[in-house]
Amino acid sequence: MAEIGIGLMGLGVVGSGVAQVLLQKGTALSQQAGITLALRRVLVRNPHKPRPLSLPEGLLTTNPDDLLNNPQCPIIVEVMGGEEPATTYIRRALEAGKHVVTANKEVIAKHGPHLFRLAQQRQVYLLFEASVGGGIPLIGPLQRDLLANDILSIRAIINGTTNYILTRMARDGVDYHTALQEAQAKGYAEPDPTNDVEGIDAVYKLAVLALLAFRTPVPLPQIYREGITHLQAKDFRYAHELGYEIKLLAIGRKENGTVQARVHPAFVPSHTLLAKVDGAYNAIEVQGDLVGRVVFHGLGAGPAPTSSAVVNDILTIARSVKAQARPLSWVNLHTALPVRPLHDLTTQYYLRLNVADRPGVLAQIAHILGDLSISIASVIQKDADPSAGTAEIVIMTHPAREGAMQEALGLIRRLPVVREVSNLIRVEAE
Ligand SMILES: NC(=O)c1ccc[n+]([C@@H]2O[C@H](COP(=O)([O-])OP(=O)(O)OC[C@H]3O[C@@H](n4cnc5c(N)ncnc54)[C@H](OP(=O)(O)O)[C@@H]3O)[C@@H](O)[C@H]2O)c1
Repeated sequence: MAEIGIGLMGLGVVGSGVAQVLLQKGTALSQQAGITLALRRVLVRNPHKPRPLSLPEGLLTTNPDDLLNNPQCPIIVEVMGGEEPATTYIRRALEAGKHVVTANKEVIAKHGPHLFRLAQQRQVYLLFEASVGGGIPLIGPLQRDLLANDILSIRAIINGTTNYILTRMARDGVDYHTALQEAQAKGYAEPDPTNDVEGIDAVYKLAVLALLAFRTPVPLPQIYREGITHLQAKDFRYAHELGYEIKLLAIGRKENGTVQARVHPAFVPSHTLLAKVDGAYNAIEVQGDLVGRVVFHGLGAGPAPTSSAVVNDILTIARSVKAQARPLSWVNLHTALPVRPLHDLTTQYYLRLNVADRPGVLAQIAHILGDLSISIASVIQKDADPSAGTAEIVIMTHPAREGAMQEALGLIRRLPVVREVSNLIRVEAE
C-alpha cells in the first residue's frame, strides 16, 4: 500500500492523543483510508520531557524545518496552540503545498480568511474540526451537510471549563472560587484560568463558527465579551426560582445583512436543551432556514475526543490524496458583513440590586426604567439585612433595548438609595 507521511507539531494533551491513535490504530485507519498513515516527525519544545507515550526512535525534533521542509511530510498537524509560531508554521506549510490539520481556534479566528485563501490558491486542505467543540462533529457539518441552509443563528455552550464551574454553582450552591479551585484540581481548568472564565476562548470559537455559518469574518474586538467571574451563588438561586439556568453562551445571529456576536452569561429557560447541558459538556445549537434547529452535543475537550476530530481530518486528506481528488472543503467567504453593536440588542434582563430597606425605593427605580421605556415583568424583594438596613431587589424586565438598559443602570447607580447594582444578566428566550 502507498504511504502518506504526517508531521505532528506538538505532543501535549492533544498531540499525545493523536500520536497514540496513529500508533495504536494505524493499521485499521490505513485500511479505512486505503493508504498507510505514517507518523514521520514530531515537533516539541523540550525533547527531554517525560511523555505519556513512547514514540519510535528518532521521531522527536525541536527544529520545525524537519517537518516544513521535509517532502516526507505532506500532511502537517498543528496542535501546539497559541497564535505564534503556529500561524507562521501553518502559513509556511500551505505555501509549501502541504495539507494542514489544526486544532487551533485562535489561529483560525485571527487569520482564517488569509489562510483559507492560501489553501485555495495552493489547492491543499486546511481542516480544523477540533478547533471548536473538541470531538463534536460540527465544522464538517457546517461546511458540508448544512450548506443548503441560510444559517440564521448559533447559540452555543462552547467552553467546558466554565460550564463545569456554572454547573457546580447551580447544582450545589458553591461559590465561584470554590468551583474554580475544584475545576483546577480535576484538570478542567488551567492554573491561569483567564482565557476560559473571561470568555476569551469562547470568543475565538464564536469567530470560527461565524466564519463558517455566516461566511463573514467578525473582528474579535467587535464580539461583545463578558465572563463568569461576577456571578454569585444567589444569582443561581434566583434563576431557579424564576425558571431558568445560567449558562455562558456564545451567540451569533444574522439579521437583515448584519451579524450580532456576543459571549456572556445568560438566563436560559430551564426546560430547554441548552439549559440541560451540564458539566464539561458542550452543545451547539444551529438554526438554518431549511433544517430548523439542530443541536450538536458532546465532549468539547480532552485527548481522546479531540484526537477523534484531528484524526478524522487526517483521514479525509489521506482518502482524497489516495483518490487523487482535489480538495473540496474550502471556506468561501462573502464580503464582510457589518457587526451590530450591543446597544442595538433587544432582550429581557435580570437585574439584582442592593438598596436601602425603606419605602419608596422601588418607585424611584421603576420611574427611571419607565422613562426609558423599560417595562418591569416581575419584582421580588429578597434577603433584607436589618443590621445594614439594606434589602435585595430582583427585577425581571420585558424585552428592552440594551442601550436604554445601560443608560438606566447609570442613573440607578446614582440614586442615593441604591447601594450597589449587583448584577445584570441577559435572558436568552427559547
Ligand atoms: N486540550 C484540549 O482538550 C483541546 C481541545 C480542543 C482543541 N485544543 C487545541 O489544541 C491545541 C493544543 O492544545 P494542548 O492542550 O494539547 O496544548 P499543550 O498540552 O500545551 O501542548 C502543546 C504542545 O506543543 C508543543 N509546543 C508548544 N509551543 C511550541 C513551539 N514553539 N515549538 C515546538 N513545540 C511547541 C509543546 O512542546 P513541549 O511538550 O516540549 O512543551 C507541547 O508538546 C491548542 O490550539 C488548543 O486550543 C485543545
